[in-house]
Amino acid sequence: MKFSLVLLFTSLFCTAHSQTKLPYQNEKLSIDLRVKDLLGRMTVEEKAGQLNQLNGGAFTGPALKDEAQKSKMKLVQEGKVGSLLNVIGTKETRAIQEYAMKSRLKIPLLFGLDVIHGYKTIFPIPLAEACSWNLDQIETNSSVAAKEAASAGIHWTFAPMCDISNDPRWGRVMEGAGEDPYLASVISAKRVKGFQGNLKGNENVMACVKHFAAYGAVEGGREYNTVDVSRFMLWNKYLPSYKAAVEAGAATVMNAFNVVEGVPASGNKYLVNDVLKKKWGFKGFLVSDWSSFNEMINHGYAKDSKDAALKAMQAGSMMDMESSASYKYLPELIKEGKLTLAQLDEAVGKILYYKFKLGLFEDPFYFCNARKEIQNLFTDEHRNIARQAAVQSIVMLKNNESILPVKNDAKIALIGHYAESKEDMFDFWVAQGKTDEAVSILEGFEQRFNGNVTYAKGYMPDNTTTETLINEAIQNCYNADIIFVNIGISGKMAGEDRALAQPEISQGQIELLKTLRKLGKPIVALVSSGRPLVLTEADKYVDAILQIWILGTEAGNAVADVVSGDQSPTGKTVMSFPYAVGQIPVYYNHFNTNRPAPSDPGGDWYSRYRDIPNDPLYPFGYGLTYTQFGYSDLRLSKSTMTKSDTLTVKVTLSNQSERPGEEIVQLYIRDHVASLIRPVKELKAFQRVKMAPADVQDVTFKISAKDLSFYDVNGNLVLEPGKFSIFVGGNSRDVTEAVFELK
Ligand code: GLC
Repeated sequence: MKFSLVLLFTSLFCTAHSQTKLPYQNEKLSIDLRVKDLLGRMTVEEKAGQLNQLNGGAFTGPALKDEAQKSKMKLVQEGKVGSLLNVIGTKETRAIQEYAMKSRLKIPLLFGLDVIHGYKTIFPIPLAEACSWNLDQIETNSSVAAKEAASAGIHWTFAPMCDISNDPRWGRVMEGAGEDPYLASVISAKRVKGFQGNLKGNENVMACVKHFAAYGAVEGGREYNTVDVSRFMLWNKYLPSYKAAVEAGAATVMNAFNVVEGVPASGNKYLVNDVLKKKWGFKGFLVSDWSSFNEMINHGYAKDSKDAALKAMQAGSMMDMESSASYKYLPELIKEGKLTLAQLDEAVGKILYYKFKLGLFEDPFYFCNARKEIQNLFTDEHRNIARQAAVQSIVMLKNNESILPVKNDAKIALIGHYAESKEDMFDFWVAQGKTDEAVSILEGFEQRFNGNVTYAKGYMPDNTTTETLINEAIQNCYNADIIFVNIGISGKMAGEDRALAQPEISQGQIELLKTLRKLGKPIVALVSSGRPLVLTEADKYVDAILQIWILGTEAGNAVADVVSGDQSPTGKTVMSFPYAVGQIPVYYNHFNTNRPAPSDPGGDWYSRYRDIPNDPLYPFGYGLTYTQFGYSDLRLSKSTMTKSDTLTVKVTLSNQSERPGEEIVQLYIRDHVASLIRPVKELKAFQRVKMAPADVQDVTFKISAKDLSFYDVNGNLVLEPGKFSIFVGGNSRDVTEAVFELK
């Protein structure tokens, strides 16, 4: 009663006043009041329209010229569209927003885009960026991406992708932060902060936590495949990173394509309502993945599009990307009483809230600033940040005889199609990044080594080789002091619908390595890929391996920075490198099993393969640098702790070389006995430590009860007394251990 009086008075005041402003148009009122007023003025069709997101046609040229797009503009003008994705630039977003301004209530559109790792300045793929373990850098990278995207008319990015995956057969591992829930959690939260800032002004964008939930658990790593995870694994492995991103204030969440417990995520009440909204208190809005509402028909969960719209809304889902089910059928479903107006208002209200919050009602063209678009994109400052990010993403997996870094006057032979191929430098998600603006590996080497570089292709774009190409490569190496071979797979094989059953180095590239090995010169493999490939065979023929992932615009400069020693490699892999495809999934935080492999691999009757070792070729957290670090004297502040205590963990770190260095010190725990089995190791903390030559210093961690907790199958954190181990080291395998008791 009171509220309507306030509203009545306000609207009377406004009407009486010379202003034509209605309450929802009055920025002096709270957003909640404005949402309420606007909802009260909207028809059911207009409300359903706000849940309708359509592709704005960036892939079919300028939206306004394409006939199919023009029909969408008619829907916009009729107030039947709430958001468009893939519209690019201030000119196009302005032109399309003009159509929305012709609608009855002039509700502005939201423009969304996949700004996954950069808009115009392209950063390393998120999997590579995560290997920096540098949270401040990661936040900065995302804030640069947001600034560029927002300056080009974008309000909303469909990132961060928070999916945990242990399976490099899945092409989308490139978008996430690897296999560990803790690391992915802290990184996802930083990505949200970087994208959103305080969501004020027009240099931030709304983030979107995706894909909710457990898309990374697709069977066989096969794209869009079935997911079947227990509540135990859902809560302890897959959900923490989404939770952290939601708690970081993410404005939106995206439904995943897959099922969870037999129900598609878009229609999964347990996920959307019970977990996301009730347990986590999420106050933003959800958007489906591309046509995932309608695809509940394919899943065999909805009988038709109308049923899909009903089930999505009943679960608590909201905006419908590209399936049109909602705006077509929600009015009918309301009329038939199958959905209530309150359910519709709950969804539409959340979307309107963010349109008000972004200031779009005051100025629908607030993000359409052509001057900013020119000034803020692809600046030297942004490129330098991208270069730093790329350097920190490189993981040195091997460096026998310390053949790296190369000497300044070294004669370098650079071999490999990818080294000169800019288009293979980029992955699937490059927004407005242009390959011709990227620095190739060859260009980076030529610039850094003053032309002391010769180049040969070595293999074809399809990774096969020929006798001619091999002979050219050999010729190219005769006068070289050191040989670099850029192997791997194209960046175009990273991303959605890029599952590989054989994520390996091609036979052509292996043949090339074998032949070059006979020259008796040091060989360095530069591995380009958006996932950990099986490097076991290649490893035999090279002295050093730099995993250079897909590094984006500054790739060539960053690789040259590291190879030359101008910068040291500091990256640590966030996904295990399998010893063989048959070993997948292989990950560090595995369970002990009833018959764990003994440290000496003799005997019988224990969990193992007969033909390969259990361990990956390179483990989670592993990465070398140009300095050697020693860990000693791990000590705990107490041998028993209570639930209210804090445990102080100290380790002595020494730089055993004459070169300054930076180490990522990692701390893992193990809960030896619990009501649900616990992994043999769980990452719980890490620190990047700078060390001067011959420096020795103590590294200190504080461990609280929360760090020792895990989730029960209902998603409640539990902490149980008993024996715990603390492990500290430079990766998940080579660690020192100490034990304590939790009382
Ligand atoms: C795609 C992806 C999702 C992306 C969306 C819009 O299918 O699954 O991650 O944000 O569609 O491009």
